[in-house]
Amino acid sequence: MRVDLLAGVTYNPAVMPSPVPTILVFDSGLGGLTVFAEVLKVRPDARYVYAADDAGFPYGRLSEAVLAERVVAVMERLIGLHDPDIVVIACNTASTVALPHLRRRFSVPFIGTVPAIKPAARTTRTGAISVLATPGTVARDYTRDLIDTYAAGCKVNLVGSRRLAGFAEAELAGIPVPDHDLLEEILPCFVEDEGRRTDVVALSCTHYPLLLARFQALAPWPVTWIDPAPAIARRVIQLIGEPVPGHEADDDEAIAVFTDGAGIGAPLRSALHARGLSQVVMEPWPMRLNGE
Ligand code: DGL
Repeated sequence: MRVDLLAGVTYNPAVMPSPVPTILVFDSGLGGLTVFAEVLKVRPDARYVYAADDAGFPYGRLSEAVLAERVVAVMERLIGLHDPDIVVIACNTASTVALPHLRRRFSVPFIGTVPAIKPAARTTRTGAISVLATPGTVARDYTRDLIDTYAAGCKVNLVGSRRLAGFAEAELAGIPVPDHDLLEEILPCFVEDEGRRTDVVALSCTHYPLLLARFQALAPWPVTWIDPAPAIARRVIQLIGEPVPGHEADDDEAIAVFTDGAGIGAPLRSALHARGLSQVVMEPWPMRLNGE
């Protein structure tokens, strides 16, 4: 299987993006905001739809079949409503399973987010790297293939956290998470084996960079934390180009869409506003788990 840092892109150059493109950034929840922030820096002129499938959150617990079907169904709705020029799947858990399905089904170009194992392998000096992700992402063949392709010479420690994405959501919604809870989730990333210590942690869930300052403060020793968001923003520019002078969206054209919205209170609204998303819209799409 061919693997690629940004999960490759299918792009038809005949479909030229408009001067003010609409960029759809998609995640199960608020983690994709870490990617949105980087994309916004390089294309401040674009129209944005930030879509959170919070009715399906957390994706990390879903089987591959349920998740792929879910993401395609939600995307069908979002593409129909918002007609984006490009879609960024700002979610490792979804990208590592749903990208081929999305590319088969829709003609719009997709950029995925997959575990930053290649840059982690390039960065490490000790050869010991940890991949901190959801339980779904660490179990994927896609992740194993990335390790075999890019990090065969490293000792790769896969750490699947059940709670961290929820902790990141809680913090953003104004509910503080105690240090000891965070520490419990990140401690398995820190391995010392025959004098060799982990020196790089690939943040392989887009929620985790939201907690980066806390991780840095709690880490038992300093490591390099890799956040893939800047690389994804560069990929957006490769595909749709730099801003076109004289064309730009109005400030109020960035919207946040939620498929449930139950957790949206005043602190979250102001966090979204501070990130450039002043309009919040509900597009209900309940999760039917069929017993899962
Ligand atoms: N933000 C998502 C990711 O990058 C996962 C969170 C979830 O479990 O829904 O994997």
